[in-house]
Amino acid sequence: MKRLDDFRMTLGRDQLVPIMIGGMGVDISSSDLALEAARLGGVGHISDAMIKTVTDRRYKTKYVKAKQALYKYVPETDDKSNVKFDLGHLAEATRLHVEHTMRRKTGLGKIFINCMEKLTMNAPKETLKVRLASALDAGIDGITLAAGLHLGSFALIEDHPRFRDAKLGIIVSSLRALQLFLKKNARLNRLPDYVVVEGPLAGGHLGFGMDWAKYDLATIVEEILQYLRTEKLAIPVIPAGGIFTGSNAVRFMEQGAAGVQVATRFTVTQECGLPDDVKQDYFKAGEDDIEVNEISPTGYPMRMIKSSPGIGDGIRPNCEAYGYLLDGHGRCAYVTAYNREVAAHPDQKHVSVKDKTCLCTHMRNFAIWTCGQLTWRLKDTSVQHDDGSYQLLTAQHVFEDYQFSTDDRIKRPEPTLVLAE
Ligand SMILES: Cc1cc2nc3c(=O)[nH]c(=O)nc-3n(C[C@H](O)[C@H](O)[C@H](O)COP(=O)(O)O)c2cc1C
Repeated sequence: MKRLDDFRMTLGRDQLVPIMIGGMGVDISSSDLALEAARLGGVGHISDAMIKTVTDRRYKTKYVKAKQALYKYVPETDDKSNVKFDLGHLAEATRLHVEHTMRRKTGLGKIFINCMEKLTMNAPKETLKVRLASALDAGIDGITLAAGLHLGSFALIEDHPRFRDAKLGIIVSSLRALQLFLKKNARLNRLPDYVVVEGPLAGGHLGFGMDWAKYDLATIVEEILQYLRTEKLAIPVIPAGGIFTGSNAVRFMEQGAAGVQVATRFTVTQECGLPDDVKQDYFKAGEDDIEVNEISPTGYPMRMIKSSPGIGDGIRPNCEAYGYLLDGHGRCAYVTAYNREVAAHPDQKHVSVKDKTCLCTHMRNFAIWTCGQLTWRLKDTSVQHDDGSYQLLTAQHVFEDYQFSTDDRIKRPEPTLVLAE
């Protein structure tokens, strides 16, 4: 029986271990996690989601305060169009995070940055252009364009000196999305260097409607592989979503994939950016504790653990400090929902908002626990201690389990404490 290590992922001139750790905002796929993937010969992602918040926390900058100081909070208005991002600060913050990460890189693998295009930041094109260009300036190996793929994104950086040398990839959930992207970008004479095909079991936002359960990753991957063969397009295809063991990955490699993108199994590693107590909630989640809902203001369904403290919470929106989801007209669906609840309950000090969540604040505070569908299996990947807690894994352990395991086996770690009976 084959192991994932019997394959290599060819990206341009590079031969990599075919394991890509997916981007997980906000700083859940931390630099440390991405660096481990690169050290071990695969690909790791950092994320530029809420980059100013991330740099403030990691590198002691003060971007969030500086932004907040500029804008007065005006209660009960849905229009936040005056709340703009300082593009200079955005560039600085992106450069800082990328440079700090790339400086520490070892090994033969690569570090990419995940850029979610649904972070429209009250000026979608201008901010995205700065995010992409600054990441390239700072030496990132590649960029993965995600969530809300905007067909014109490559064109935003076509004049950048690294446009043809950096790896540029896209995430799609259907053949149609890929076809549209290729058509729109034909004039640039620059194909994506890889296509991540994200199926319905992935974490984060989904590229499907609430009928996600009708779709199946292997079928979508097959359609895309066949199309690329017919069109004689040599674009590496990287399936993602619900690939839980090395053997699952091998089946995709035998189907013709170049590599796999995985994330959920790394949420319970020491290097993952989630707080340790939240990692325990991921371990302990059962199958019934996981749902796909529509509370993200992006308009995309999102998968999360039902007990996430941010669900149903009616916190005051804080677009003056964050505002990453403000659309091009200064609006966010959470602000509208919050104002509606405040108007309906004028005497209440704290309202509850059920239909939307303040994703910026709650992702910043690790209070929305987005996760893959197979999170409930994480408890089978580790050992449980006497006090009921699970032992965190190292990223190396999980990476090598994907790389070397056979027969769908999962290797648990050596216990570091006395185990429960
Ligand atoms: C906690 C978490 C956060 C995620 N955040 C993002 C994100 O910010 N951007 C993105 O493109 N995908 C995101 N994803 C999706 C992953 O990058 C990846 O494609 C997918 O989860 C792989 O499936 P798996 O988790 O079943 O292995 C996230 C996934 C998880 C589990």
